[in-house]
Amino acid sequence: MSNRWIPAGRSSNDRRRFYWGEPKPRADSVEVIIRPTRHDAAFLIAQLVEAQIIAHPDVVLGLATGESMEPVYKLLCDAHRNYGLSFSGVRTFNLDEYVGLAADDPGSYRSYMEAHLFSQIDIEANNTHLPNGMAADLEAECDNYERSIAESGGIDLQLLGIGRVGHIGFNEPLSALRSRTRAKALSPATIEQNAAHFGGDHSKVPHRAITMGVGTILDSRRCLLLATGAEKADIIAKAVEGPVTSMISASALQLHPRCTVVVDEDAAAKLSQQEYYRWIFENEPEWKPFQ
Ligand code: GLP
Repeated sequence: MSNRWIPAGRSSNDRRRFYWGEPKPRADSVEVIIRPTRHDAAFLIAQLVEAQIIAHPDVVLGLATGESMEPVYKLLCDAHRNYGLSFSGVRTFNLDEYVGLAADDPGSYRSYMEAHLFSQIDIEANNTHLPNGMAADLEAECDNYERSIAESGGIDLQLLGIGRVGHIGFNEPLSALRSRTRAKALSPATIEQNAAHFGGDHSKVPHRAITMGVGTILDSRRCLLLATGAEKADIIAKAVEGPVTSMISASALQLHPRCTVVVDEDAAAKLSQQEYYRWIFENEPEWKPFQ
């Protein structure tokens, strides 16, 4: 199994060989890909994103925050720096932003994106979108965000992490499966999980956030969810193999026509059908270049 990255000095034609094909329009099952390590899982996600950018330089990406995504963004920055991967035509929409934090607040997701990706690549600032958590009229801000996504032509490839409560974006338990971008109160479990990003001080974690809805996410053409580490094993098993329920927003991805869940061995540990997922990965021609 090789972890090929596109070798330095190759022409863009060579790089195209790594494209994993047009997204298939079929209504499919959720696909689960198990990679040996956290790095391998992030590497596959980065390869898929890069392939999309090469094939469609004006791709509309949906972006996620969180620790799981950090190695993905690092790999994309490396691809820009070392292999000339250009983001100049790429447009991005982030899943969510805290209410009440200014863009330049170190705890904001705008700051996260600037630090981990935007400041290190050639993306146009105007092409990067996050909800404005400081908007005076939050409802209008949410409607505008939905409108901007629609005007961009819709999200081609949506990256997702998963929270311990099973949220995607900040769609906390009981988020309607058809929900759209809106401001929402965060659950105590999410505040607890995210306190680490506020110096461990729970009182500093905002209590609300603007998030794309589950319905917004389901409208994307393709979803890639990344989960790594043993603390995600329980929730991944429930989201992928359990019933679709608004108690676990990520389970709604079972309704998505083209969703790929990439996990490392630790996060896969509680999936009952691991051998089946490995078999599919080994036998689907689409995945040959990534094995
Ligand atoms: C935050 C984000 C989610 C993300 C989650 C997982 O709550 N709003 O979109 O999926 O973090 O974060 P981590 O990757 O750090 O576990």
